[in-house]
Amino acid sequence: MRILGIETSCDETAAAVVADGQSILSNVVASQVKLHAQYGGVFPEMASRAHVEAIVPVVEQALYEAHVGWCDLDAIAVTCGPGLPGSLLVGLNFAKGAAWSQALPLIPVNHLEGHLYAHWLHTGAAGAADGKLEFPLLALIVSGGHTELILLHAHQKYEYLGGTLDDAAGEAFDKVARMLELGYPGGPVIERAARQGNVRAFTFPRAWLPDTYNFSFSGLKTSVMRALRQYNGPRPQRLIVDMAAAFQDSVVDVLSAKTAQAAKSFKVTAVLVSGGVSANTVLRETLRARVEVPVYTLPLILCTDNAAMIAAAGTLHYQADKQTPWEMDIEPGLKLA
Ligand code: KG4
Ligand code: ZN
Repeated sequence: MRILGIETSCDETAAAVVADGQSILSNVVASQVKLHAQYGGVFPEMASRAHVEAIVPVVEQALYEAHVGWCDLDAIAVTCGPGLPGSLLVGLNFAKGAAWSQALPLIPVNHLEGHLYAHWLHTGAAGAADGKLEFPLLALIVSGGHTELILLHAHQKYEYLGGTLDDAAGEAFDKVARMLELGYPGGPVIERAARQGNVRAFTFPRAWLPDTYNFSFSGLKTSVMRALRQYNGPRPQRLIVDMAAAFQDSVVDVLSAKTAQAAKSFKVTAVLVSGGVSANTVLRETLRARVEVPVYTLPLILCTDNAAMIAAAGTLHYQADKQTPWEMDIEPGLKLA
């Protein structure tokens, strides 16, 4: 079974062809990072315009790289939410038109479910699950828009354990990188700077929010801002790298401690880590050191937004229900559980 996945929920225009929910035949991502870098974050109106320009060539490239034509596909899976309304509309409307004209079923997919099902794709990468998954599982989704701990009892049986009450982890990385004038996106530049820094040079707070699996990063962000304000004039490089290191240490400490606690309490067989922030090597290492069960990670292209994960999640729904809900609409605030 071959499914074309389409993803346009934020700032990546992506299309991919996946066979049997496991084999990636193609995975094309057109990133808008350069476009949004000047604003230090995603500019929604510009994102949707860029999707309009990119969607046709990206889908054509995905079919070309997979060596398939429309007639070789069994269905199209598309992200319907959560995400930016203008961005979601481009992908969903393109997918509706393509599915109608090619007489293919159309499967709406929750973007977060996509991040979970990225782990069902076979990649051969170090640290990946590659077919070894058994329920119950715990998922940590950490991206620019999400920070969530989700329990997976079975396929499509999810339990929301907790999430951020304010900024997402990736959003905190992006905002702090902007304060430190390190560039955008914040995650990779902070990780790079932090390698030269001393985590103990600053003590930034950790919002433990006891007895919950919720997170909060806005206080941490404010602390970095306050600490930075004490230095007038040119800021020495040492200060910047130390702040980056101490900030990253605080985020990683809370994420890994809560994940380890949830993995133990719910007796899961493994932890799945997804989303752009899961590219962070310090987070990966700390999770592996603290969590008692295997921690599965993904190659970079599958950590950040992509359409292979949407096709993988779509395969599951296609097997369960082959009806196309043509009246489907975007759901910008869609929840997983
Ligand atoms: O999953 P993603 O591509 O898009 C969203 O759905 O948001 O994640 C993008 C986020 C950005 O906030 C970026 O700063 C963060 O992932 N990120 C990282 C790293 N690489 C990307 N955060 C921490 N460390 C990294 N190495
Ligand atoms: Zn995402």
